[in-house]
Amino acid sequence: MAADDYAALQAAVLQTLGLDLRLYKREQMERRLRAYGQQRGFTNLQELADALRRDRTLAPQLMSYLTIHVSEFFRDPRFFSDLRSLIQELPQVPRPLRAWSAGCSIGAEAYTAAMLLSEERPGYPHQVLGTDVDEQSLERARHGLYREEDLRQVDAERRSRYFTAAEGGYRVHQDLQRLVAFRRQDLLRDPYPQGQDLILFRNVAIYFTEQAKEQVLQGLAQSLSPKGILMVGSTEPILRPQAFGLRQVRPFFFTRD
Ligand SMILES: C[S@@+](CC[C@H](N)C(=O)[O-])C[C@H]1O[C@@H](n2cnc3c(N)ncnc32)[C@H](O)[C@@H]1O
Repeated sequence: MAADDYAALQAAVLQTLGLDLRLYKREQMERRLRAYGQQRGFTNLQELADALRRDRTLAPQLMSYLTIHVSEFFRDPRFFSDLRSLIQELPQVPRPLRAWSAGCSIGAEAYTAAMLLSEERPGYPHQVLGTDVDEQSLERARHGLYREEDLRQVDAERRSRYFTAAEGGYRVHQDLQRLVAFRRQDLLRDPYPQGQDLILFRNVAIYFTEQAKEQVLQGLAQSLSPKGILMVGSTEPILRPQAFGLRQVRPFFFTRD
C-alpha cells in the first residue's frame, strides 16, 4: 500500500468525517480502511478517498466501520462492584451527581452508571452523559433497545426494575432513560464537559496513539470534580497518574484531590 495513498485517505477522512487519523495507531486503522475499501470494490485507498468526497452517504458508514462498538451492561462485572463501593465513598453532597461515559458506544455503560447512581444515591435526578464520535451508535443508545446478549451480566432483579420486554429484546425503562442524555463528541477535538463526579473511559483509547491518549487523559482529569472518580478499562492502566494530577485509589480507578 503506497504511503501517499494513506495520506490522501487521511486527508479525506479528516475533511468528510472530521476524524484525525494521525491520532490513531496507523497499523490498525490502515488494516480496517483497506478491508472496508475491498468490501466496497475499491482497488486502493486513493479511490476510497475520492469516493468519500463524492458520496456524502459513505462518511457515516465508514465512521461506524472504523470505530469498534463492542459493549454490554456491567462489562467486566468485578470492576462495577469496586465502582459501587467508590460511589458510596464519594462526598455526601445533597445534590444530583454527574457522570460521563466517554466513548459510550451503544449506551450500555452510561445506563449502567445511571443504575448504580440511583441505587447508591436514591432520590436524586442524577445526570449521566454518554458521548461518542459515532452517530449510529448514539442512535441505538437513545433508542434504548437491547438484545439478550447485551444484558447477560444484568441480574433478574435489575432486569425487572430497569427494563421492559419489547419486540427484539429489552427496552430501558423511562425512569432510567430520563437520567441519561447522549450527544456526539470527538474526544480528540471537541470541548469536554466539566464538574464530573464520575467518568468512565473504557476500551476507547486502544487505538489512540500515546500522544493522543495523554492529551485525552489530561482533559478527563480536568473534567473531574475534586474527589471525583475516573474508571479506565482493564487493559488500559495509567502508568503515571501523577502526570495528570490523578491518584490511583484501586487498580483502574483514579481520583483528583
Ligand atoms: C469498544 S467501544 C467502548 C464502549 C464502552 N466504553 C465499553 O467499554 O463498553 C469504543 C467506542 O469509542 C468510540 N470512539 C473512538 N474514537 C473516539 C473519539 N475520538 N471520540 C469519542 N469516541 C470515540 C467508538 O465510536 C466506540 O463506540
